[in-house]
Amino acid sequence: MNVVLGVCGSIAAYRAADLARNLMRSGFTVRVCLTDAAQKFVTPALFEVLTGNPCLIDTFDEPEMGRMAHIDWARQADIIVIAPATANTINKIATGIGDDMLTTIVLATTSPIVIAPAMNPQMYVNDATQAALRKLEAHAAIIVEPQEGDVACGEHGQGKLASNQEILNAVMTLAATRKSLIGKHVVITSGPTQEAIDDVRYLSNHSSGKMGVALARAAQLMGARVTVVSGPVKVQYPLNAQVVRVQSALEMLDATLAAGADADIVIGAAAVADYRPAIRTAGKVRRSDASLSLELVPNPDIIATVAKTYPGASVVGFAAEPSSELDVAREKLERKNLAAIASNDVSQPGIGFDSDQNELVLVTRAGQTLESGRLSKLGCALWLLDQVVRL
Ligand code: C5P
Repeated sequence: MNVVLGVCGSIAAYRAADLARNLMRSGFTVRVCLTDAAQKFVTPALFEVLTGNPCLIDTFDEPEMGRMAHIDWARQADIIVIAPATANTINKIATGIGDDMLTTIVLATTSPIVIAPAMNPQMYVNDATQAALRKLEAHAAIIVEPQEGDVACGEHGQGKLASNQEILNAVMTLAATRKSLIGKHVVITSGPTQEAIDDVRYLSNHSSGKMGVALARAAQLMGARVTVVSGPVKVQYPLNAQVVRVQSALEMLDATLAAGADADIVIGAAAVADYRPAIRTAGKVRRSDASLSLELVPNPDIIATVAKTYPGASVVGFAAEPSSELDVAREKLERKNLAAIASNDVSQPGIGFDSDQNELVLVTRAGQTLESGRLSKLGCALWLLDQVVRL
C-alpha cells in the first residue's frame, strides 16, 4: 500500500523521519512531500535516503519527465498522512487552496487523509483552525488529536504532535479496513427520538448522535454507500452520506424499513424511546392543581422489525448498559434476532453518551465475545464494522 507522508514546518518535523521508518516497517511504500517551511527543519535528502523515493516540495517538481507528479501521487496514494500538520496547511486544505505540492496533492486525491496537528496551543484553539479541522472531519479526514504538554514555544497546552504509535495506529486501522465495504449499503440509525406529548413538549433522551457520525464515517472510509436515519441531533454527518431526518420512533421505523430494503448491514445506534404518549394533545396541555398522569404505549422495536423483514441483512444492535455484565446484551441479541450486539458500559466515566471515546464488547450470534479496548468513537466504529465484515 502507498502512503504519501506530508510534512509541514513545525519543530516536530524531525519526528516524521521516524514515522516514515515505522510506516515502511509496517509494509507501506512511503513517499514524502515537504512544505516550504518544513525545509527549515528537515531536508529532502533525509527522506530520500530513508524511503528510497524522491521527496517533493514545489507543485512543479517532476521526478519523471513529462508526468504531473501531483496527479500521479494523488492517484497512487492509498492513504495520505500529514504529520506534523501546521495550522497554516490545515486551514489551506480545508479551504481548497493548492499553492504547493502537498496541498495540491490533497486537492487532487480521493483517498482518506490522516491529519496529526502540531502547533502552539493558542493556534490550535483558534476558531479558524477548529472550524477547518471539523470541516475536514466532516469530509472523512481522521484527526489524530495533539497531546497536552509543554510545547516548544514555552507554553503549556494542547498542541504537541500525537505519538508516532497513535498516528501509525490510525493509518493501520484505515489500511486494514479500507475498501472492504465497496459496493455495500450500510444503514445506520442514530441519535435520540422525540415522542410528542403535545405540540410543544416531548419525551426524549441524551443521545448525541456521535456514535452514529463515527459509524457513518467509518463505513464511508471502508467504501460503503451510507444512509443515516437520524433523530434530532446537532452533530454533522459526513457530507456524502444520505441523511433522513426523523423525530419519533414511528417515523424512524418507517424510514429505516424504507432504507433497509437493499441494505447489506443495518446498525442500530439510535437511542429509541421505548414508550410514547398514547395521545398527542393538540396545542398545549394546560397547567392545573391536579396531578397529571401520562399514559404511555410501547414503541415498536426498530432493529428487531428490520431483522425480521430483511433476513438477508446483517443487523447489529447496541446495548448501552450500566454494567459490564453481558447477560442483558445476550438476551437482546436473541430476542431481536441480531447478527451481533455491541455492548458498552455507560457507568464508566469518559465513554458512552456524548463522550468522544467508547469501549465496545461485541457479542456475536455464534457466541464469540470480542473486545475493542478504549478507542475514539471513530476507532470503535472502524473496529466494529471490521468485525461485522468478518462475521
Ligand atoms: O432494547 P434496547 O433499547 O435496550 O436495545 C437497544 C438496541 O435496540 C439499540 O441498537 C437500539 O438502537 C435498538 N432499538 C430499536 N428500537 C427500539 C428500541 C431499541 O431499534 N424501539
